[in-house]
Amino acid sequence: MTEQPAKNHPIIVAVTGASGMPYGQRVIETLAESGRKVIVVVSDHARIVLKEEMSADFLKVDHPNIQFMNYRDIAAPIASGSFPTAGMIVCPCSMSTLGEIAGGISRNLIARAADVTVKEGRKLMLVPREMPFSAIHLENMLKLAKIGVTIMPASPGFYHHPKKIDDVVDFVAGKILDHFGIEHSLYKRWGTNEFNLEELGTF
Ligand SMILES: Cc1cc2nc3c(=O)[nH]c(=O)nc-3n(C[C@H](O)[C@H](O)[C@H](O)COP(=O)(O)O)c2cc1C
Repeated sequence: MTEQPAKNHPIIVAVTGASGMPYGQRVIETLAESGRKVIVVVSDHARIVLKEEMSADFLKVDHPNIQFMNYRDIAAPIASGSFPTAGMIVCPCSMSTLGEIAGGISRNLIARAADVTVKEGRKLMLVPREMPFSAIHLENMLKLAKIGVTIMPASPGFYHHPKKIDDVVDFVAGKILDHFGIEHSLYKRWGTNEFNLEELGTF
């Protein structure tokens, strides 16, 4: 039987070496500020991309709700299905990590935690970033989507009229958090001029 995640179970956010570090950072900080416990794992290659994109050695996230786990610590709590979580987000997700997860290869804590998330019937979301996608990438994504993994490409919309990069980042982060039922005001929802969302009771 698939377990029901409790609201106090932590959400895992893994950051891998695809472009899009600001997306991962915004997701982590918004989750933590919403009151959720967040377990963060950063891959070795993500650190190289972090340096390129944010001129930093580490993610700039600092909140008591955030706990880091070591990418190489295959004995960390999230490597076991007996440790309860409310699911996992890989953001951004490289094609390499996506391929590992699709192939069931668990040689680091991110791939292992994703494997555990799938086998325990918990929510797994991947936020891939690559241009263009090859047939290998697409087949891997289709394989995962067919078993219930959410493929949430980092493809920002422009119908909310972004004025700065933060607006674009917020749109993608907001769409990710919507799927985990996290309240936020990162972007203006389509149709909210005509409808009062509180009355609709959607979020
Ligand atoms: C600056 C930079 C940007 C990259 N962007 C991407 C990307 O957008 N998507 C991708 O799949 N790989 C990208 N890569 C390649 C991955 O980092 C590489 O495949 C790495 O092995 C992924 O490892 P990981 O999944 O363990 O983090 C990028 C590498 C660098 C240095």
